[in-house]
Amino acid sequence: MFGSRKSLLAIDLGASSVKILEVHRDRDDLVLTNFSRVDIQSDANRAEAIAECLRRGKFKTKHAVAAISGKSVIVRFLTMPRMSHEELNRAVKFEAEKYIPWPVDESQIDAVSLGDLPGQDQNAQPEMRVLLVAAKKTFVNDFSQMLIQNGLVPLAIDIDSIALATAYEMHERASNTSPAPGAIALVDIGAGKTSVNIISGGTPRFIREIDNGGGDMTQCVAQKFGMETQEAERVKCSPGDRSSEIEEIVMSAVADLANELNLSFDYFEHQGDGSVDSIHLSGGASSIVSIAENIERATGKRTHLWNPIDGLKVHGAGIDLDDLNAHAPSLAVAVGLAAREY
Ligand SMILES: Nc1ncnc2c1ncn2[C@@H]1O[C@H](COP(=O)(O)OP(=O)(O)OP(=O)(O)O)[C@@H](O)[C@H]1O
Ligand SMILES: [Mg+2]
Repeated sequence: MFGSRKSLLAIDLGASSVKILEVHRDRDDLVLTNFSRVDIQSDANRAEAIAECLRRGKFKTKHAVAAISGKSVIVRFLTMPRMSHEELNRAVKFEAEKYIPWPVDESQIDAVSLGDLPGQDQNAQPEMRVLLVAAKKTFVNDFSQMLIQNGLVPLAIDIDSIALATAYEMHERASNTSPAPGAIALVDIGAGKTSVNIISGGTPRFIREIDNGGGDMTQCVAQKFGMETQEAERVKCSPGDRSSEIEEIVMSAVADLANELNLSFDYFEHQGDGSVDSIHLSGGASSIVSIAENIERATGKRTHLWNPIDGLKVHGAGIDLDDLNAHAPSLAVAVGLAAREY
């Protein structure tokens, strides 16, 4: 998996913090040897936050994988005639034109077959489901350059919502849970956005980014108490004996998110790929009080929190376990980056 490379850095540059995991493979185990995270105060200090996170981590390797997300990245599920990987790579450029709002020449395109569609008519041409990912070349290049300027050697760039699914797959394997029979929705609630990946039969079937996240919950608190954002953030994350008050205050943000989730589930369920059985929450903002209960009530789907670091072996003398555990919900993307085959 890691070839001759021993270790790897998995870098998640989120809206509110940078998280970096240093891992290596020991047979089937993914071993965490170091962890570092730094808050991002504003967009202006993102690059600085990465540099600081690397400094603090004192990592031994420069080989890095990272994830991108947002409006410069497009993910689509297509139906195409069954073809080889090489043919797909050629054909998808023409197909992609229909879905990308900017010129195909300015895009970095990746496509992967998710397997054949269930056979219809015996005489019909067999078809396959294809996952298309397209990103603006300039965006990917700038992102890679930023990693290189920090002395890193980028090995691959992934997508948040896909890394999320890789992390969940590892979690299922590690906890010996057999994959759910129906579709499940992975929902990672970050600061600025929520990544949704509906998985069925072990493969992604629907991917979307929702523009709601923990930042909206912080704004509810700031407005209610007339606080600055930073103060509201502190009260939201450590409410002490005011937790039911905070639950009430952020309710409108949670309801907006649940509403968007319901729209996504409706869309998915109308495609005829089955229905969503359960929701699995991660992301820093999944720590807000009673979120699983409130989302379950609003969507009518069984909703659980899962711990993205459950499947990791931790072997690092320098790792602050309390810090790691406190931030575990927000590490799904980084764990997924670390767990993928490169
Ligand atoms: N204990 C807590 N209670 C409530 N919210 C929390 C708690 N801890 C963290 N959060 C919220 O989680 C969010 C950060 O989560 P995460 O690190 O997953 O986001 P990110 O990756 O930085 O952002 P994005 O994925 O949107 O780019 C922030 O809004 C933060 O306030
Ligand atoms: Mg995130």
